[in-house]
Amino acid sequence: MTQVRDILVTSALPYANGPIHIGHLVEYIQTDIWARFQKMRGHNCWYVCADDAHGTPIMLKARAEGISPEALIERVAAEHQADFVAFRVGFDNYHSTHSPENRHFAELIYSRNRDQGHIAQREIEQAYDPVEKMFLPDRFIKGECPKCGAPDQYGDNCEACGASYSPAELKNPRSAVSGAAPEMRRSEHYFFKLADFEPMLRDWTRGGGLQKQVANKLDEWFDAGLQEWDISRDAPYFGFEIPDAPGKFFYVWLDAPIGYMASFQHLCERTPGLEFDHFWAPDSPAEVYHFIGKDIIYFHALFWPAMLTGADFRAPTAVFAHGFLTVDGQKMSKSRGTFIKARTYLDHLNPEYLRYYFAAKLGPGVDDIDLSLEDFQARVNADLVGKIVNIASRTASFIHKRFVGRLAATLPEPALFAEFAAAGESIAAAYDKRELGRAMREIMALADRANQYIDEQAPWVIAKDPSREAELHGVCTQGLNLFRLLIGWLRPVLPGTAEAAEAFLRIAPLTWDALPKPLLDHQVEKFKPLMTRIERSQIDAMLAASRADLAGTPATGAANQPAVASLDPPLADTIDYDSFAQVDLRIARILEASLVEGADKLLRLRLDLGGEERQVFAGIRAAYVPESLTGRLTVMVANLAPRKMRFGVSEGMVLAAGPGGKDIFLLSPDSGAMPGMKVK
Ligand code: MSP
Ligand code: ZN
Repeated sequence: MTQVRDILVTSALPYANGPIHIGHLVEYIQTDIWARFQKMRGHNCWYVCADDAHGTPIMLKARAEGISPEALIERVAAEHQADFVAFRVGFDNYHSTHSPENRHFAELIYSRNRDQGHIAQREIEQAYDPVEKMFLPDRFIKGECPKCGAPDQYGDNCEACGASYSPAELKNPRSAVSGAAPEMRRSEHYFFKLADFEPMLRDWTRGGGLQKQVANKLDEWFDAGLQEWDISRDAPYFGFEIPDAPGKFFYVWLDAPIGYMASFQHLCERTPGLEFDHFWAPDSPAEVYHFIGKDIIYFHALFWPAMLTGADFRAPTAVFAHGFLTVDGQKMSKSRGTFIKARTYLDHLNPEYLRYYFAAKLGPGVDDIDLSLEDFQARVNADLVGKIVNIASRTASFIHKRFVGRLAATLPEPALFAEFAAAGESIAAAYDKRELGRAMREIMALADRANQYIDEQAPWVIAKDPSREAELHGVCTQGLNLFRLLIGWLRPVLPGTAEAAEAFLRIAPLTWDALPKPLLDHQVEKFKPLMTRIERSQIDAMLAASRADLAGTPATGAANQPAVASLDPPLADTIDYDSFAQVDLRIARILEASLVEGADKLLRLRLDLGGEERQVFAGIRAAYVPESLTGRLTVMVANLAPRKMRFGVSEGMVLAAGPGGKDIFLLSPDSGAMPGMKVK
């Protein structure tokens, strides 16, 4: 066994004003796999996290809900933690930045930096909402784009024309909180003098703890010059008041990374023998790693190590940045249903599938990773169900039925087992370097060999010959021992499946060191299938539920209108071709039409879009008896954002012609069109 390392691992702290989504999960799953791997290697590894509970957005969201910020962050913390538990993200501690430990360390780090002369004070001018009596962060100022005049643009870039500008250039600016015109006001702010740390940061950057792309980014920032960082905000603010400055609060990003320390301190208080200073003192021999998204590198690779150094703590050993998640090659989108909450995923699919898929796609770099839903289904079914689980299911039943659940005392092919076991170090090296994709490929290549062995031996053929009992026993014992190695190596990725496999094999939780010793003359349980295949219908149901989530806002007047294309004005004189091209017109077959209680103009339609089902409410009741519609084809707008109505969610719109009332005509009878077919 190599030397035992003391390792502290963190993931970025999720904001306490929204749910965990599958984009976040790239990070929490990646970190969790790495931490579980280090633990399995026998290292002294601790994984901590917390909710990031402070700041203006959280304060305003609580206000909008009519509750206190404390009540909001408590509710969200419970939701976040339930999601993490379900995805088997195994934090050793999950805390909050709104905690006594975090206040303590925020005050300590601030005052030490101040006493060393690293804090400056000066007045700045900022937008102020005279109605709400608060200074406005840029993203809470909206107005007309200075370039194209588009209304309701926030912050510093225009969603309509893509222009970027300073928020002060917005025409006709308004506070997004009260609608009042903002005034410019002066107030005293506190600044962290980042430039004081340039030599230290340059050394640290070259110390090998950063990915190449990140180190290059830092060089750009050094070239641009390190600016002073504004670390204070005026009341009202949800956060910690600055000790020597009444009415001034620490900016959320000052105390957020300190939350890593606070969560660890909170863990130390409850864990005998775990010493905070051993991990955080300037000369600490322990390793500290932060996993983060590429959007927050500046905070973690500049401000954070500098603040720590200025307060006599050690800097992190390394910061590991990852890229952003896309779904089917595009940014997660609410209207496409690809903005998928952790909870919505869990309602439809096994979390281990996503853990495996992310592992298969992740590398040590900062490239974005794509969740291609088709590839996700194919890969999980082929690799996990088709390769891994299959090895056990093809051999375990014979052990149970023919050998009273007992494994043979020797392996028929010890060399094959030894060859497998020897691959453990190369797989471990890949995990350690965060080359998760490579680790998965190596494991799957061995799974192919294990299946090949079973195919060649064909235990189902041997089983027919009573004189070959011992051979059958040997082959199945060999198969289960190869399975044990594979599931052991996959354990950081598939903790739930590994646990079920350990229960089946009646063994203690697997460690890396225990793997090379085969399991012989040992009693196992009856085998139960460890995992089932993903069906496309599960993915479609998840997408539909995600689209419907978007419609979860209270129904407005307009959303109560029947979802049939209106023939009434106002219509645009012309629309450009691009707008037209965006409309996804498709043939749909009406599977069922039914009356809607309480809506005498509507029919509820169940539509088949060529394998995918949709529900649409259409205002065509006067024109059709429901039964007459069954089996007919119609044209529908398939990518209309779903709308929540009183009776349910309408997931599209059917097109019809006619003046209305009784005279509305759906598509004429069958003309060879197929459900799902594109119409344009
Ligand atoms: N609260 C800050 C972090 C403070 S750490 C001291 C924050 N929160 S966040 O909720 O917006 O994001 C949490 C983490 O999830 C970040 O590392 C972020 O990069 C990551 N991701 C959020 N959306 C993501 C994707 N779509 N894809 C991959 N990672 C994403 O930032
Ligand atoms: Zn614009």
